[in-house]
Amino acid sequence: MVDQMVIGGSGSQGLAARVAHKMDVTFGNVEIKEFPDGEKYLRIHTPVKGKEVILIQTMGFMPDRLLMELLFLTETLSQLGASRIRAVVPYFAYSRQDTSFKRGEVVSFRVVSKLLEFSGADELYTVDLHLHRVVDTGEIFKIPCHNLTAMPLIGEFIRSNYSLEHPKVIAPDEEAEQWARDMAKELDADFAVMAKVRKGPDKVEISTEELDVKGRDVVIADDIISTGGTMATAISLTREAGAKTIIAACTHPLLIGGALSLIHQSGALEVIGTDTVPSSVRVVSIDRLLADNLKH
Ligand code: R5P
Repeated sequence: MVDQMVIGGSGSQGLAARVAHKMDVTFGNVEIKEFPDGEKYLRIHTPVKGKEVILIQTMGFMPDRLLMELLFLTETLSQLGASRIRAVVPYFAYSRQDTSFKRGEVVSFRVVSKLLEFSGADELYTVDLHLHRVVDTGEIFKIPCHNLTAMPLIGEFIRSNYSLEHPKVIAPDEEAEQWARDMAKELDADFAVMAKVRKGPDKVEISTEELDVKGRDVVIADDIISTGGTMATAISLTREAGAKTIIAACTHPLLIGGALSLIHQSGALEVIGTDTVPSSVRVVSIDRLLADNLKH
């Protein structure tokens, strides 16, 4: 029998505690402090020798600071004799920088994945990883990478909490088709895919064929809401096409700056996300998804 325990970095302490509780395993004590110059001090108080340690640390907001913690903890777990280190990074930052568009551009996704491997992680679990030009995680990670999806959980939450009539699911761009499909399956709905062209960091143009949404309840599903530009534009188009109610759903509600109010002003009834990152929207926890996939 494998002796498992869970620890969390400062980005995912609450989620890590919930996963440990669901798995009925020890939640390890980690001390995390910051020196006046900004350096981090970390100490793992709970013995880990011979144990399989599930280390949960998101990289939403201040990704570099959270990444350093993740690397420090992974290396230390290895030094302390953990038998296996399963790094769980619910939101994997830098995955959108997966290629050099211009000569000399850093492919941050590749660098971060190498650092994680170098620090001693045996495998990686993540959720709705943004795979755009990289199709297979094996192109980036040498360690096994398990890319879980939260869309069925979010769909289940929407089905149980909203009385949707003849719902329709919309993907705001081609990449989101996979999430819209999963959501549509859960809601027993049909789905449509919009076409997006990014014109700048917070400016997108979306086009769509005629949408069959008149008088219908619509769920727009995406992996990330960052500036809210994509979601707000998709909502406006859906509203113009006559949708009755619109729910904006995503796995990673980063919601930078005024994103949340932009989305509400565009006409969303509700914004739903998960706890892969902290946020102020209606939250569906991924604790069950992680516990089910990590428990032996
Ligand atoms: C990009 O392709 C992603 O799937 C999201 O659509 C995107 O990250 C959302 O960004 P924003 O909220 O800034 O439009």
